[in-house]
Amino acid sequence: MRVAGSITELRQLRRDLQGSIGFVPTMGALHAGHLSLVEAARECDHVVVSIFVNPSQFAATEDLSKYPRDLPRDLDMLRTAGVDLVFTPTPEMMYPPGYQTWVDVEHVSQGLEGQRRPGHFRGVATVVAGLFNLVQPDFAYFGQKDAQQVAVIKQMARDLKFPLEIIVIPTMRESGGLAMSSRNVYLSPDERRAAGVISWALRAISTAWDDGEREPARLRELGLAVLVTEPSGQVEYLSFADPDTLRERQTASDDPCLVSLTVRFGATRLLDNMLLPASLNTREGLTSTLGVSPSG
Ligand code: PAJ
Repeated sequence: MRVAGSITELRQLRRDLQGSIGFVPTMGALHAGHLSLVEAARECDHVVVSIFVNPSQFAATEDLSKYPRDLPRDLDMLRTAGVDLVFTPTPEMMYPPGYQTWVDVEHVSQGLEGQRRPGHFRGVATVVAGLFNLVQPDFAYFGQKDAQQVAVIKQMARDLKFPLEIIVIPTMRESGGLAMSSRNVYLSPDERRAAGVISWALRAISTAWDDGEREPARLRELGLAVLVTEPSGQVEYLSFADPDTLRERQTASDDPCLVSLTVRFGATRLLDNMLLPASLNTREGLTSTLGVSPSG
């Protein structure tokens, strides 16, 4: 495994790679969820991973300075996972003095996380566009966990004509159902146990859907009824949206639906989602249902 600590090195090492390239962008603090993306990318001739805690996607009030970082451990995990090339730029390399170009994906960035974290997806789209230009992958792998991020990146890749395909990998969960996240280290043991309520709520909603319930208001009530059983969690939103536009669904429909929610435990915001019907929560279902379909 080669590690490129600068843009020059990355370009050189990338030129030496022949055949198809699978790319997994990350912010490090790797866990089994990240590794499931790497594992999927091994279908390509070469796997490239980036580790970069991207300052421009954090608001001033957010956790940029205390975001977990452990590069030696991350590199060990990636070496064992069979990665060919890791790119570890510094903020100064990605945003040198005088940097002034930003990628703003208008509509799909607006609701859900975009509404609660203004500027977040502008930072994500900008850094991912830069990374796509550097790595020049054929396939890029993203997690369902950040479903709106998938929709934003798919739209950006389509609009800016990146010659690549976005693949979406299902959310990896801990045994209690909690979606794996680098931020789970912020949770106390009590909060971690309590956070299991998020996956119970999703399961209750999915069961109701299977029983024929399609009314978003009714599905929301059912989910909230489960979430309130854990009073230490503060629900920020529980959304039922179209999986392509991410617009909130107002009326009953048999079309696929993206259920997403954010619940705050203490200072930690936990994010989760699923597609309905639940049979769509596979690589194939997610890749074809979340966000816009590729053009051309
Ligand atoms: P990060 O949070 O490190 O996540 C990197 C990738 O891992 C994302 O595609 C994310 O959706 C995926 N991922 C996270 N938890 C997962 C889980 N439990 N199961 C499956 N996949 C999971 O997302 C980012 O970094 C950044 O925004 C980035 C795209 C790197 C741009 O800075």
